This record gives sequence, structure tokens and C-alpha cells, in this order.
Amino acid sequence: MSVIKNVVVIASTGNLGPPIVRALVAANFNVTALTRGSSAPFSSPVQVHKVDYESASSLAEVFKGQDAVVSPIATGGLGIQKKIIDAAVQAGVKRFIPSEFGIDTRNAEGGLGKILSAKQETREYLDKVSKENPGFTWTGISTSLFFDWGFKWGSLGFSLPNKTATIFDSGNEPFHATNLDTIGEAVTSVLSPAHFAATANRYLLISGVTTTQNAILSILEEATGEKFKVSHVSTEDSLKTADEKLAKGDFSAFGDYLKVRLFKDGKGAARTATAELANKELGLREDDVRETVRRVLKV
Ligand SMILES: NC(=O)c1ccc[n+]([C@@H]2O[C@H](COP(=O)([O-])OP(=O)(O)OC[C@H]3O[C@@H](n4cnc5c(N)ncnc54)[C@H](OP(=O)(O)O)[C@@H]3O)[C@@H](O)[C@H]2O)c1
Repeated sequence: MSVIKNVVVIASTGNLGPPIVRALVAANFNVTALTRGSSAPFSSPVQVHKVDYESASSLAEVFKGQDAVVSPIATGGLGIQKKIIDAAVQAGVKRFIPSEFGIDTRNAEGGLGKILSAKQETREYLDKVSKENPGFTWTGISTSLFFDWGFKWGSLGFSLPNKTATIFDSGNEPFHATNLDTIGEAVTSVLSPAHFAATANRYLLISGVTTTQNAILSILEEATGEKFKVSHVSTEDSLKTADEKLAKGDFSAFGDYLKVRLFKDGKGAARTATAELANKELGLREDDVRETVRRVLKV
């Protein structure tokens, strides 16, 4: 059985890279963090390397002796992953975790599928390459929305500074979301001796919480002691807005499609995914909505 010891985290400096690096270090992996820039927010024992993803020799150098590569690369860099995968295969890397970390891209259709096509193509490429190179394996991790991060950036429909809430349809549709640290733990668990073999060449769904917009609103108002100004939007309108934006080549349509996918009354995305969740298999703890809200609000 392979034991994973040396792990490279590419594109390590963004939103998700640091929590993944922290979790891997805490689990005693030897971690190398890559950046295109000259610095990354890590200290010993993490080794930081500057890399040029376009250069096969630059990648060969950093992948030498590495067991696994984790990719939380930005959406704008998704296309580069094929080159990175080729270099990983050449270097004898045993597991590649691609930049998924969002909704289940296996069933993203229409406009959403178009926007997420680079993730779908990467998965298909990994499937092909892993069949051709039996020592090379991959694991995709779908996390639905980033939960704690979503408060900061408004993807859950709330603005904390303005105390406003945009509620889609009734606000009662359950959806999945996962805190960034929990995603780091999922990556670590996949690479651990207990789960490495069983997670080979699989696409896993995880979720830290199952909640609704209305449940979050009520906790936010309780935690802040203030009423939020609520506006209501129909996901029918979100879909129209998304289609119009995409027709003009405006990829911010993604945010509007996401609202339809997650918040549309009766859509059932969380219900469908629940049966497939790998939380138990990976030994993940649940995120707590109230605790997360208080941490994000710093109250
Ligand atoms: N589920 C959700 O709610 C949610 C939210 C946000 C993101 N995501 C997904 O999570 C993954 C990671 O997202 P993130 O927000 O952590 O990423 P990010 O912070 O936007 O970017 C991560 C790193 O990628 C590198 N990078 C940026 N542009 C690049 C390019 N064109 N080519 C190569 N490298 C580039 C940068 O590192 P260096 O400059 O150091 O090289 C950057 O720090 C993505 O798959 C994204 O779609 C999910």
C-alpha cells in the first residue's frame, strides 16, 4: 500500500490554499507550497517554491520525489492543470486532487456547465491519464459553497457590513456549504493511509452544513441583535439574468446560476447529494452554523 508523505500544494496563496496547507502540516505531511510570485504566507516546516506552470522543467524540478499534488488553482488558471497533470505523471506522483472544491460539476448543465467546462475537462483528462498510468490516481472533492468565506464575499446572499439579506424564492430550500478548514481536513483525510486506496479515482461530495437562507438569517439577527433589511428575488429572474449575462460573454453569470442551483424552491440539490456524501467515510466533523456565524462576525 502507498503511503503518502510528500505533498505539493500548487497555487497555494489564495483563499483555499492556506487552509489546505495548514491541515496537511497539522497531519504531519511534508508540504511544499507553490506560487508564481516571490512569497507565500507560510513558514517552516512548509517549503515555498516559485514555479512557472508553463515550464515543464520547472514543474519536473518541484514534483521530483513528491507523492501527491493538490490544486486549489484559481478559475483563471484551470486550463493550465493539464500541463501540471502531465508533469505529475512524469514525476511519478501517485495522487492528484484537482481544483474542484465547489458544486458537483458532474451534473452542471446549460450555462453553468459551460462556465464550469474547464473543471469537467480536467476530470475527464484525469480519468483518461489514470487509466493509462496505473500508478497515477486522482480524487475530486466537491464541497458546494464555501461557507465561512461566503459570508465575506456575499455568495450566501448576505452583506454583513450593510446588514442586508437577499433571499431567493422562499429562503427555505436546503443547501450544502463547507468551511475552508473542513475542506483542508477532507484533503488530508483523502491522502491519509486510512483512506488513500479507497478514494482512488473517485469524485467525492462533502458538506460541512446543510442549512437554509432563512435559518442563517435568523442566526445572524440573533448574533448581531439587529434586524437585516431583506429583499426577495425569484430564481426565475436570476436564471434570466444569468442567461443574458452569459450571452454577452459575462462570466459573472456564474453567481446567478449558482443561486438557481442552490436556492431554487424544490430544486433538491442538497437532498440528492446527501445520500452520496463522503463525510462519514472521511471522518469529517460537521460545521456548526451558529459557531461559524459568530466566528465570522467576531462576536
Ligand atoms: N465553493 C465555493 O463557494 C468557491 C468559492 C471560491 C472558489 N471556489 C473554487 O475553489 C478553487 C480555489 O479557489 P480560490 O478562491 O482559493 O482561488 P484564488 O484565491 O482565486 O486563487 C488561488 C491561487 O491561484 C493562483 N492563480 C491565480 N490566477 C492564476 C492563473 N491564471 N494561473 C495560474 N495560477 C493562478 C494564485 O496563486 P499564486 O499567485 O501564488 O501563483 C492564487 O493565489 C477553485 O476551483 C474555485 O473555483 C469555490
